[in-house]
Amino acid sequence: MTAPILQFEAITKRFPGVRVLDGVSFDLHPGEVHALMGENGAGKSTLMKILMGIYRPDSGRILIEGEPVEITGPSDALSRGVAMIHQELNPVLDMTVAENLYLGRELRNKLGLADARAMRAATRELLERLEIPVAADRLMRTLSVAQMQLVEIAKAIAFESKVIVMDEPTSAITEADVEILFRHIGRLRESGVAIIYISHKMEEIFRISDTISVLRDGALISTAPASELDEATLIRDMVGRSLDENFPKREVEIGEPVLEIDHWSSPPMVQDVSISLRKGEVLGIGGLVGAGRSEFVESFFGIRPGGSDSPVLLNGEPVRIKRPQDAIRRGIALVTEDRKVTGLNLEGSVAENISLVNLKQLFPSTILRQRTEARIADDYIDRLRIRTPNSRQLVSRLSGGNQQKVVLSKWLLTEPQIIIFDDPTRGIDIGAKRDIYTLIGDLVEKGCSVILISSEMTELMGLSDRIHVFAEGRITGTLERPEFDQERILELASQFGDNNDDGTH
Ligand SMILES: Nc1ncnc2c1ncn2[C@@H]1O[C@H](COP(=O)(O)OP(=O)(O)OP(=O)(O)O)[C@@H](O)[C@H]1O
Ligand SMILES: [Mg+2]
Repeated sequence: MTAPILQFEAITKRFPGVRVLDGVSFDLHPGEVHALMGENGAGKSTLMKILMGIYRPDSGRILIEGEPVEITGPSDALSRGVAMIHQELNPVLDMTVAENLYLGRELRNKLGLADARAMRAATRELLERLEIPVAADRLMRTLSVAQMQLVEIAKAIAFESKVIVMDEPTSAITEADVEILFRHIGRLRESGVAIIYISHKMEEIFRISDTISVLRDGALISTAPASELDEATLIRDMVGRSLDENFPKREVEIGEPVLEIDHWSSPPMVQDVSISLRKGEVLGIGGLVGAGRSEFVESFFGIRPGGSDSPVLLNGEPVRIKRPQDAIRRGIALVTEDRKVTGLNLEGSVAENISLVNLKQLFPSTILRQRTEARIADDYIDRLRIRTPNSRQLVSRLSGGNQQKVVLSKWLLTEPQIIIFDDPTRGIDIGAKRDIYTLIGDLVEKGCSVILISSEMTELMGLSDRIHVFAEGRITGTLERPEFDQERILELASQFGDNNDDGTH
């Protein structure tokens, strides 16, 4: 085997009250796709931030091509051939693609001035060579997440990176874009670039990685060739125990309709959607990313405009929902990942966030409220196994998956009669997914009704009583539980109307 390009040697890191990494060592070789797996809060992102020089390790070293290095920050990392592709790229949104690519190493003309035209031409040439269909002068903010990631890959290549880190790169992109990303990963690997790939998606991991390392509670549990591993072993390494392959669906008696929406539209994303949700039912909504599923639920929840000629019926009574507060007041909850609208207050503590929705009204007295908040928060920390030193910890300090669990807790606390989950297990590890499935079972058993938007087929088919499939803002088909079939769902999900035969079904 070739000499390692990168080595982690006994990396240890503590934050106040938590030991995050405990003597982690592994090597990375040129042309290797090395997956890093582990439960939410296991320390994956922290290890990568140490590699990028964002945090310093308490002890241990990093070696690049056999030489110990002190990496002082992301640009230092980049100049040493180490690039990281982040999921959110806020700082560069107002730059063009070319400006972003040449940020910090602008091409200059004879007078020493930045040569925009040369940079545009070079960018165009690079993107063309990499077959990335994005124009050099587009603003970054006008690109899709997948396109932004491809531009970041181009940037890593332009900098001749030897190591590229991808931290959950596929959590917000469509299946088609995943294929494009994987093609590029394949090419990078062939040209000798080493990739560290972080994801909770098993299928992806087995498809593209050569080696898999597992972190648990900050310690490296195993490093092995992917070909020698199976899913069960991997889960045991991650979780520390075995998990059943199957999680049984809870059998619940299904009652009368609780929510009826007729011919609902929210142009341009949602057209003429009708649903009827029954008591105790889990109504699944399948489809590809961009099919208008989130837009549909967000519009009748009052987050975005939308409407219908007939009123929305809640328990048979017409209701008007103009703002999210109207929906919440009537016992409807929407769990999304969109932090801007319904998500998290990153400046607040875990306890404050969990009780954000409704405690303020209930408890005008601050002391009483704080005590109640803490008690309730402790209960949810326990139930969903949120990894945090205590309920006073700032939410911004939690790992990505644990932040998502706080969002869930917050909505469960409202004891809704209807709860809408929009991709609830995105970024959530496999053990915690089970916790969430159990919780959905508990909810319907108590008479709650659930709308579940999910892109994960096993989850959608495993939990739903009925599935509506969306494509281009419309329902293209509905399957009852006995008819559930992955192929059929995918077929309906990619049924794009062409203008001529709109009337057919
Ligand atoms: N700045 C910080 N201050 C205090 N604790 C932190 C800080 N950053 C991370 N942590 C803690 O370190 C632990 C590891 O977090 P990290 O983000 O590395 O997890 P992860 O493996 O990437 O998880 P996920 O799969 O959820 O993204 C968590 O318990 C987290 O709360
Ligand atoms: Mg992480």
